[in-house]
Amino acid sequence: MTGGAGFVGSHLCERLLARGDDVLCVDNYFTGRRDNIAHLLGQPHFEALRHDVSFPLYVEVDEIFNLACPASPVHYQFDPVQTTKTSVIGAINMLGLAKRIGAKILQASTSEVYGDPTVHPQTEDYRGNVNTLGPRACYDEGKRCAETLFFDYFRQHRVKIKVARIFNTYGPRMHPNDGRVVSNFIIQSLRGDDITLYGDGSQTRAFCFVDDLVGGLMRLMGTGNDVTGPVNLGNPHEIPVRELAERVIALTGSSSRIVHRPLPQDDPLQRCPDISLARRVLDDWQPTVALEDGLRRTIAYFEAMLRAGKAPEGRAA
Ligand SMILES: NC(=O)c1ccc[n+]([C@@H]2O[C@H](COP(=O)([O-])OP(=O)(O)OC[C@H]3O[C@@H](n4cnc5c(N)ncnc54)[C@H](O)[C@@H]3O)[C@@H](O)[C@H]2O)c1
Repeated sequence: MTGGAGFVGSHLCERLLARGDDVLCVDNYFTGRRDNIAHLLGQPHFEALRHDVSFPLYVEVDEIFNLACPASPVHYQFDPVQTTKTSVIGAINMLGLAKRIGAKILQASTSEVYGDPTVHPQTEDYRGNVNTLGPRACYDEGKRCAETLFFDYFRQHRVKIKVARIFNTYGPRMHPNDGRVVSNFIIQSLRGDDITLYGDGSQTRAFCFVDDLVGGLMRLMGTGNDVTGPVNLGNPHEIPVRELAERVIALTGSSSRIVHRPLPQDDPLQRCPDISLARRVLDDWQPTVALEDGLRRTIAYFEAMLRAGKAPEGRAA
């Protein structure tokens, strides 16, 4: 698992170990945190390796989950050239490894490949509306190129590929300072700070709890060679960002006020997955955790973190 010490990766490591797999977690700890995998380090079937995927890796495994890549704008824009290298050169290195050892490989792609979509909700055949020159392009175009590489390795070298297009996911172990809307709102509410809402808050998002996503990724990896994807994985239940802020304030019992800031450049106004394909090929997979339950569990995580006075590690802004 590349990116195994990150938010999604650490949950996936945990679930694979629980299933009885051996897990090799490969991470350079750019946004991942050792705290995320500390509880796994003593387990005999878990191994952690510090490694940057933009350099080749020689190991023996049966399956590769390629998750390495900073996922939030603050982090991927910190060093945009490295972000593109991680996505593109990282994909080449991991696909090369998969080819050499005959492993199946799953790419954690993203709904960002759709850019600011003109089709709603987004189906996998929509080709996207991405600005190649903007500040988000290092991530969006890096992920698009990685998808291209996956399909070229599939056609040219018959590598067994799976491509998941992941939509907004939230849950415990999100980076506290990554500027993403769920973690932002929760931390601001818990601290009683103003809640910053970009634009008027009418832009919508659909939030998937991390356990649901991880289940989808495992099912996708378990499919036969006829299923390559891309497959959308996310929660199709869409809500305005303002409503999310109000729900978080209510659940935390906070006295925070909502304040407005201008929308960042190229911020998509709507994002919502069409998950018909996932339901069809992944044995009727669909998210089952209600937003309220997922938010409670995420709030509990950040509450404990703040109570412990843990200064966030990593390159938080
Ligand atoms: N969380 C979401 O909502 C979401 C949405 C769409 C796609 N994704 C994708 O899922 C994957 C995991 O996202 P996440 O939310 O857990 O992000 P994250 O930042 O918590 O995890 C990414 C991990 O990759 C590691 N990493 C970064 N560059 C690396 C490199 N060059 N070599 C080795 N490791 C490196 C980081 O240290 C971190 O542990 C990413 O590829 C992301 O693009 C996530």
